[in-house]
Amino acid sequence: MMKKRLLTGLQPSGDLHIGNYFGALKPFLDTYGEYESFLMVADYHTLTSKKDSENLKENIVNIVRSYLAVGVDPQKAVIFKQSDISEHTELAWIFDTLVTVPFLMQAHAYKDKVAKGLEANAGLFTYPMLQAADILLYDTEVVPVGEDQRQHIEYAREAATKFNNAFGETFKQPKELILKGLGVVPGVDGQKMSKSYGNTIPLFGSRDEIAKAVMSIVTDSSGDRPENVYRIHTLFKTEAELTGLYEEKKGKYKDLKEALIEDIEAQVAPMRERYESIDEVEVKKVLKEGNEKAQAIASAKMTTVRKKVGVAL
Ligand code: ADP
Ligand code: TRP
Repeated sequence: MMKKRLLTGLQPSGDLHIGNYFGALKPFLDTYGEYESFLMVADYHTLTSKKDSENLKENIVNIVRSYLAVGVDPQKAVIFKQSDISEHTELAWIFDTLVTVPFLMQAHAYKDKVAKGLEANAGLFTYPMLQAADILLYDTEVVPVGEDQRQHIEYAREAATKFNNAFGETFKQPKELILKGLGVVPGVDGQKMSKSYGNTIPLFGSRDEIAKAVMSIVTDSSGDRPENVYRIHTLFKTEAELTGLYEEKKGKYKDLKEALIEDIEAQVAPMRERYESIDEVEVKKVLKEGNEKAQAIASAKMTTVRKKVGVAL
């Protein structure tokens, strides 16, 4: 039986944090073996928010190092780069012509980013249609992402429906895969942990960097349990394991933070070692092989799409 396709992508927009790990990478790792899997570097999405070419280049390399360091096997998942497969932007254009401005206006991610001061450029506005193209080009059925991406997957379904209604059945309906009970990982300030908000615990940070971030977690002094510390701690230990500790160290925020640092360190230290050992040569090799596989599928699909819309003579 043919395996279903699974695809996800991360933006190379900065160092990964534990929110990315538990929201996107971990669900990917837990499930990708059951599917024909694709893991993309969403570099063109990053251009909507950042224009720093040297930094982008470095982050592209680092995100592939991250994929490999957390344990993704490039023989079992196609690791590729969005910008190398030009069919993504081509298909995004077609989707842009199918969805309306008021529909795109409802995107929470767009509104949030503009409210946070990001430039409302046209690329940021049509961002969900490039993401729809990423997903639909590969007949993806499963998309593991964090809670904040749920609406973007709905947008991809809408793009598929609009296209299929206009030109005949062409695209499959993808479904998001969101880890139950996880939701949004809070940052050190209690808001969603995000590269853009400077409130992260870095995934490949040194022990000192991790300790510094944990020590800065905002604690609410109204109760015995520092909720922000506890919420992050539940990612590393079960609630049953934590009950005793939080009972014993009631009100001792510093001790609880130190315990959290130890638990994070135990899990990330081996990944950090692998990360440090992967160089740019290896990254380029992995991308070259992945891009070839992705390109073959994308080319074939776009040939069909061009015929369906009527531009192929
Ligand atoms: P950031 O907000 O740090 O820029 P991205 O938007 O690049 O992160 O997100 C990459 C992936 O990680 C997405 O699938 C997203 O849903 C997930 N993710 C990011 N932040 C969190 C978080 N705080 N909790 C859970 N998942 C997250
Ligand atoms: N928008 C996603 C994010 O910021 C990244 C992304 C781009 C993506 N294309 C995708 C995720 C396709 C899943 C599938 O996290």
